[in-house]
Amino acid sequence: MRKKLVVGNWKMNMLTAPALDFVAKVAAGLCGEACVCAPFTVLSDMSKAASGSKLRIGAQNMYFKESGAYTGEVSPAMLRDIGVEYVILGHSERRMYFGETDADICSKVRTALDSGIAPILCCGESAGRENPADFVKSQISAALSGVRAEELGKVIIAYEPIWAIGTGKTATPDVAQNMIHILRESLRVSHGNAADDVLFLYGGSVNSENISDFLKCEDIDGALVGGASLDAQNFLDMAAAAERMNF
Ligand code: PGA
Repeated sequence: MRKKLVVGNWKMNMLTAPALDFVAKVAAGLCGEACVCAPFTVLSDMSKAASGSKLRIGAQNMYFKESGAYTGEVSPAMLRDIGVEYVILGHSERRMYFGETDADICSKVRTALDSGIAPILCCGESAGRENPADFVKSQISAALSGVRAEELGKVIIAYEPIWAIGTGKTATPDVAQNMIHILRESLRVSHGNAADDVLFLYGGSVNSENISDFLKCEDIDGALVGGASLDAQNFLDMAAAAERMNF
Protein backbone atom coordinates (compact mmCIF):
# COMPACT_ATOMS: atom_id res chain seq x y z
CA MET A 1 0.00 0.00 0.00
CA ARG A 2 1.22 3.52 -0.80
CA LYS A 3 1.99 5.66 2.24
CA LYS A 4 1.02 9.31 2.47
CA LEU A 5 4.01 11.66 2.40
CA VAL A 6 4.42 15.36 3.12
CA VAL A 7 7.32 17.11 1.38
CA GLY A 8 8.32 20.68 2.13
CA ASN A 9 9.80 22.90 -0.58
CA TRP A 10 11.58 25.79 1.09
CA LYS A 11 12.57 27.40 -2.22
CA MET A 12 15.14 30.20 -1.68
CA ASN A 13 14.39 30.63 2.01
CA MET A 14 16.05 29.78 5.35
CA LEU A 15 19.52 30.55 6.70
CA THR A 16 21.44 28.08 8.86
CA ALA A 17 20.18 29.02 12.34
CA PRO A 18 16.42 28.88 11.56
CA ALA A 19 16.93 25.75 9.45
CA LEU A 20 18.57 23.94 12.36
CA ASP A 21 15.93 25.21 14.75
CA PHE A 22 13.30 23.74 12.40
CA VAL A 23 15.11 20.38 12.33
CA ALA A 24 15.39 20.25 16.11
CA LYS A 25 11.65 20.86 16.53
CA VAL A 26 10.46 18.66 13.67
CA ALA A 27 12.80 15.73 14.30
CA ALA A 28 11.58 15.57 17.88
CA GLY A 29 7.90 15.73 16.92
CA LEU A 30 7.54 13.52 13.84
CA CYS A 31 5.72 10.19 14.15
CA GLY A 32 6.25 9.04 10.57
CA GLU A 33 8.55 9.94 7.71
CA ALA A 34 8.39 13.37 6.10
CA CYS A 35 10.82 15.26 3.90
CA VAL A 36 12.07 18.82 3.57
CA CYS A 37 13.76 20.03 0.39
CA ALA A 38 16.04 22.84 1.44
CA PRO A 39 18.56 25.17 -0.22
CA PHE A 40 21.98 23.64 -0.96
CA THR A 41 23.69 25.83 1.66
CA VAL A 42 21.91 24.20 4.61
CA LEU A 43 21.60 20.60 3.38
CA SER A 44 24.75 19.24 5.01
CA ASP A 45 24.04 20.73 8.44
CA MET A 46 20.39 19.70 8.28
CA SER A 47 21.24 16.18 7.25
CA LYS A 48 23.61 15.77 10.22
CA ALA A 49 21.09 17.26 12.61
CA ALA A 50 18.26 15.06 11.30
CA SER A 51 20.29 11.86 11.34
CA GLY A 52 18.53 9.05 13.21
CA SER A 53 15.16 10.84 13.02
CA LYS A 54 12.23 10.37 10.65
CA LEU A 55 12.96 13.63 8.86
CA ARG A 56 14.36 13.05 5.38
CA ILE A 57 16.35 15.72 3.58
CA GLY A 58 15.93 16.65 -0.06
CA ALA A 59 17.46 19.11 -2.52
CA GLN A 60 15.53 21.33 -4.94
CA ASN A 61 17.64 20.70 -8.02
CA MET A 62 20.82 19.01 -9.20
CA TYR A 63 22.84 18.59 -12.38
CA PHE A 64 22.78 15.38 -14.39
CA LYS A 65 26.52 14.71 -14.46
CA GLU A 66 28.44 13.08 -11.60
CA SER A 67 31.40 15.48 -11.78
CA GLY A 68 33.35 17.68 -14.17
CA ALA A 69 33.76 21.17 -15.57
CA TYR A 70 30.26 22.52 -14.86
CA THR A 71 30.89 25.68 -12.88
CA GLY A 72 28.23 26.38 -10.30
CA GLU A 73 26.42 23.05 -10.54
CA VAL A 74 25.85 20.39 -7.87
CA SER A 75 26.02 16.70 -8.71
CA PRO A 76 24.06 13.73 -7.38
CA ALA A 77 27.30 12.34 -5.91
CA MET A 78 27.68 15.55 -3.89
CA LEU A 79 24.13 15.26 -2.63
CA ARG A 80 24.51 11.62 -1.69
CA ASP A 81 27.76 12.45 0.07
CA ILE A 82 25.88 14.63 2.57
CA GLY A 83 22.94 12.28 3.13
CA VAL A 84 20.39 13.80 0.74
CA GLU A 85 17.75 11.21 -0.25
CA TYR A 86 15.29 13.18 -2.40
CA VAL A 87 15.55 15.82 -5.11
CA ILE A 88 12.84 18.02 -6.61
CA LEU A 89 13.23 18.08 -10.40
CA GLY A 90 11.49 20.24 -12.98
CA HIS A 91 9.70 22.57 -10.60
CA SER A 92 7.71 25.13 -12.60
CA GLU A 93 9.89 27.94 -11.21
CA ARG A 94 12.97 26.25 -12.68
CA ARG A 95 11.21 25.71 -15.99
CA MET A 96 10.00 29.32 -16.03
CA TYR A 97 12.98 31.32 -14.67
CA PHE A 98 15.90 29.05 -15.56
CA GLY A 99 14.75 27.63 -18.88
CA GLU A 100 14.74 23.97 -17.88
CA THR A 101 13.36 21.82 -20.67
CA ASP A 102 11.65 18.44 -20.62
CA ALA A 103 14.88 16.99 -22.04
CA ASP A 104 16.97 18.44 -19.16
CA ILE A 105 14.50 17.10 -16.66
CA CYS A 106 14.51 13.68 -18.31
CA SER A 107 18.33 13.54 -17.95
CA LYS A 108 18.09 14.58 -14.32
CA VAL A 109 15.44 11.95 -13.52
CA ARG A 110 17.65 9.29 -15.11
CA THR A 111 20.72 10.39 -13.12
CA ALA A 112 18.80 10.62 -9.87
CA LEU A 113 17.56 7.05 -10.26
CA ASP A 114 21.03 5.82 -11.18
CA SER A 115 22.41 7.60 -8.11
CA GLY A 116 19.90 6.28 -5.61
CA ILE A 117 18.23 9.65 -4.99
CA ALA A 118 14.44 9.66 -5.23
CA PRO A 119 13.31 12.14 -7.89
CA ILE A 120 10.27 14.29 -7.11
CA LEU A 121 9.23 15.16 -10.64
CA CYS A 122 7.08 18.30 -10.84
CA CYS A 123 4.51 18.90 -13.52
CA GLY A 124 1.53 21.20 -13.98
CA GLU A 125 -0.21 23.55 -16.38
CA SER A 126 -0.45 27.31 -16.33
CA ALA A 127 -3.77 29.16 -16.02
CA GLY A 128 -6.00 29.03 -19.06
CA ARG A 129 -4.19 26.23 -20.86
CA GLU A 130 -6.51 24.18 -23.04
CA ASN A 131 -6.51 20.42 -22.49
CA PRO A 132 -4.43 20.62 -19.30
CA ALA A 133 -4.43 16.83 -18.86
CA ASP A 134 -2.84 16.29 -22.28
CA PHE A 135 -0.20 18.91 -21.51
CA VAL A 136 0.70 17.43 -18.12
CA LYS A 137 0.72 13.90 -19.54
CA SER A 138 3.21 15.06 -22.16
CA GLN A 139 5.46 16.60 -19.47
CA ILE A 140 5.48 13.32 -17.58
CA SER A 141 6.02 11.07 -20.55
CA ALA A 142 8.96 13.24 -21.70
CA ALA A 143 10.56 13.23 -18.26
CA LEU A 144 10.07 9.49 -17.75
CA SER A 145 10.94 8.36 -21.25
CA GLY A 146 14.06 6.49 -20.08
CA VAL A 147 12.52 5.00 -16.94
CA ARG A 148 11.84 1.26 -16.89
CA ALA A 149 8.72 -0.22 -15.30
CA GLU A 150 10.72 -1.80 -12.47
CA GLU A 151 12.17 1.63 -11.57
CA LEU A 152 8.91 3.53 -11.66
CA GLY A 153 8.04 2.90 -8.01
CA LYS A 154 11.05 5.02 -6.98
CA VAL A 155 9.68 8.07 -8.79
CA ILE A 156 7.48 10.57 -6.97
CA ILE A 157 5.37 12.88 -9.11
CA ALA A 158 4.08 16.22 -7.86
CA TYR A 159 1.15 17.67 -9.76
CA GLU A 160 1.23 21.43 -9.19
CA PRO A 161 -1.03 23.61 -11.31
CA ILE A 162 1.03 26.77 -11.75
CA TRP A 163 -1.88 29.05 -10.96
CA ALA A 164 -2.17 27.43 -7.51
CA ILE A 165 1.47 27.92 -6.48
CA GLY A 166 1.90 30.62 -3.88
CA THR A 167 -1.46 32.17 -4.68
CA GLY A 168 -3.64 30.85 -1.86
CA LYS A 169 -5.91 29.35 -4.54
CA THR A 170 -5.77 25.56 -4.48
CA ALA A 171 -7.23 23.26 -7.05
CA THR A 172 -10.30 21.66 -5.52
CA PRO A 173 -9.57 18.18 -4.16
CA ASP A 174 -11.90 16.75 -6.86
CA VAL A 175 -10.03 18.50 -9.67
CA ALA A 176 -6.65 17.40 -8.26
CA GLN A 177 -7.85 13.81 -7.74
CA ASN A 178 -9.29 13.69 -11.26
CA MET A 179 -6.08 14.97 -12.86
CA ILE A 180 -3.86 12.64 -10.85
CA HIS A 181 -6.10 9.70 -11.68
CA ILE A 182 -5.73 10.50 -15.38
CA LEU A 183 -1.94 10.76 -14.95
CA ARG A 184 -1.76 7.43 -13.13
CA GLU A 185 -3.81 5.74 -15.83
CA SER A 186 -1.50 7.15 -18.50
CA LEU A 187 1.45 5.64 -16.63
CA ARG A 188 -0.42 2.33 -16.57
CA VAL A 189 -0.50 2.46 -20.37
CA SER A 190 3.24 3.21 -20.63
CA HIS A 191 4.59 1.22 -17.65
CA GLY A 192 1.89 -1.29 -16.67
CA ASN A 193 0.81 -1.93 -13.09
CA ALA A 194 3.97 -0.27 -11.73
CA ALA A 195 1.78 2.85 -11.99
CA ASP A 196 0.14 1.74 -8.75
CA ASP A 197 3.45 2.11 -6.88
CA VAL A 198 4.07 5.75 -7.85
CA LEU A 199 3.48 8.32 -5.12
CA PHE A 200 1.56 11.27 -6.53
CA LEU A 201 1.65 14.50 -4.53
CA TYR A 202 -0.59 17.50 -5.01
CA GLY A 203 1.07 20.92 -4.67
CA GLY A 204 -0.17 24.49 -4.76
CA SER A 205 -1.20 26.48 -1.67
CA VAL A 206 -1.48 23.42 0.59
CA ASN A 207 -1.48 24.23 4.29
CA SER A 208 -2.34 22.60 7.61
CA GLU A 209 -6.01 23.57 7.24
CA ASN A 210 -6.65 22.09 3.79
CA ILE A 211 -4.17 19.21 3.56
CA SER A 212 -6.56 16.54 4.86
CA ASP A 213 -9.04 17.29 2.05
CA PHE A 214 -6.35 16.32 -0.46
CA LEU A 215 -4.94 13.37 1.46
CA LYS A 216 -8.40 11.79 1.62
CA CYS A 217 -8.46 11.42 -2.17
CA GLU A 218 -7.74 7.95 -3.47
CA ASP A 219 -4.98 8.82 -5.93
CA ILE A 220 -3.36 11.62 -3.91
CA ASP A 221 -0.53 10.19 -1.81
CA GLY A 222 0.72 13.37 -0.24
CA ALA A 223 1.52 17.02 -0.72
CA LEU A 224 4.39 19.20 -1.89
CA VAL A 225 4.16 22.28 0.30
CA GLY A 226 5.94 25.59 -0.24
CA GLY A 227 5.11 28.55 1.99
CA ALA A 228 3.35 26.57 4.74
CA SER A 229 6.34 24.24 5.17
CA LEU A 230 8.60 26.98 6.56
CA ASP A 231 7.06 26.87 10.01
CA ALA A 232 7.94 23.86 12.17
CA GLN A 233 4.55 23.58 13.87
CA ASN A 234 2.66 23.86 10.57
CA PHE A 235 4.92 21.22 9.08
CA LEU A 236 4.38 18.90 12.05
CA ASP A 237 0.60 19.37 11.80
CA MET A 238 0.65 18.47 8.10
CA ALA A 239 2.90 15.45 8.70
CA ALA A 240 0.58 14.32 11.49
CA ALA A 241 -2.41 14.57 9.13
CA ALA A 242 -0.58 12.29 6.69
CA GLU A 243 0.48 9.90 9.40
CA ARG A 244 -3.10 9.50 10.67
CA MET A 245 -4.03 8.17 7.22
CA ASN A 246 -1.19 5.67 7.15
CA PHE A 247 -2.91 3.53 9.78
P1 PGA B 1 3.07 26.80 -2.27
O1 PGA B 1 4.26 26.22 -3.20
O2 PGA B 1 2.70 25.71 -1.31
O3 PGA B 1 3.70 27.99 -1.57
O4 PGA B 1 1.94 27.16 -3.16
C1 PGA B 1 4.23 24.89 -3.65
C2 PGA B 1 5.41 24.60 -4.54
O5 PGA B 1 5.84 25.49 -5.30
O6 PGA B 1 5.96 23.49 -4.49
